[in-house]
Amino acid sequence: MRGKYRAFWLDKDDNLVVIDQRVLPFVDATVTITNTDECVGAIKDMIVRGAGVIGNVASFGVFLAARECKGDIKKLEEKAKLIRCSRPTAVNLMWAVDRMMKKARSSSDMIIELKLEAIKICDEDCEASKKIGNFGADIFEKILKERNKTKISILTHCNAGWLAIADNGSALAPIYEAKRRGIDIEVFVDETRPRNQGANLSAWELEKAGIKHTVIVDNAGGHLMQHQMIDICITGADRVSRGGDVANKIGTYLKALAAYDNNIPFYVALPSSTFDFEIVDGVKDIEIEIRDEDEIKFIRGVDADGKYSKLQIVQDNSPCLNYGFDVTPSRLITALISERGICEANQKEIQKMYKDIL
Ligand code: MRU
Repeated sequence: MRGKYRAFWLDKDDNLVVIDQRVLPFVDATVTITNTDECVGAIKDMIVRGAGVIGNVASFGVFLAARECKGDIKKLEEKAKLIRCSRPTAVNLMWAVDRMMKKARSSSDMIIELKLEAIKICDEDCEASKKIGNFGADIFEKILKERNKTKISILTHCNAGWLAIADNGSALAPIYEAKRRGIDIEVFVDETRPRNQGANLSAWELEKAGIKHTVIVDNAGGHLMQHQMIDICITGADRVSRGGDVANKIGTYLKALAAYDNNIPFYVALPSSTFDFEIVDGVKDIEIEIRDEDEIKFIRGVDADGKYSKLQIVQDNSPCLNYGFDVTPSRLITALISERGICEANQKEIQKMYKDIL
């Protein structure tokens, strides 16, 4: 199960090893998860993060929990609840735990079947990310043709690469595919304060893949768009409503507003497991995570001696408010790209694409 582009894998004892995303790109470390508490801790503390990978780690967490309680379904129900509520916004987490528990309730050999189900969920994510890559790269080619250009400039926010969705990512999947097709690309990467998933994780992924990229501060996107430096914006998603509203990393909404004002297409890439069909109005009804204020107060990185360290940047007596996500209303989104294809972000089109479910 150890793929080339995976943020997690099973070791020989069937424990889950994850890349410690808190310390990338400066420290190359892994953490081993053996039980429910460690799984919940890894998700809460963002050792692992990104909607898809949270779902994958949660699935393997349910498998580890079943092993821990020796296949006792009642005990497993309790442990699964703890995993399910470890973070509130990315719906892939709840989706994955519910699917695993459905399997647990109907299985004759629970522990073995749960391991296989977690592997299946991961394989499906990989397949989805490959297809998203193809659909997205087709859009890049269309834009280049329409504008008679040879190079495309893309703006992305947060990290929606393979550290967030196994193998190719969601928003970065079309970028990886474009590179494979030989398209000339340049990616502008929002740093994504306060946890810097853009500066730390997306830039690391892109550099490893040999893709031309430039990190910009979160407030720079609007300026770049006004000066024709961006052809297309593409982000991932943590939860998308039936009406096409998109919850994604805090700051996504402001980028979508700037793109709208400058007539720049704004696409959102997601596997279908990121839809929450129960919710229509995402702005009103998607729960937004509020994280610890210390994530704003302190910044992490390497000091002049190359030592990984933590530095305070806000005085003790100034409180901080740390919303993890925002919701971009569907009217600002050009289209959604999933493994099923490209779909306008509105209830009618989403319903058409998912008529087998809705
Ligand atoms: O708080 P994080 O790092 O888990 O947030 C992740 C994002 O917002 C990503 O952009 C999102 O998960 C889309 S990629 C699957």
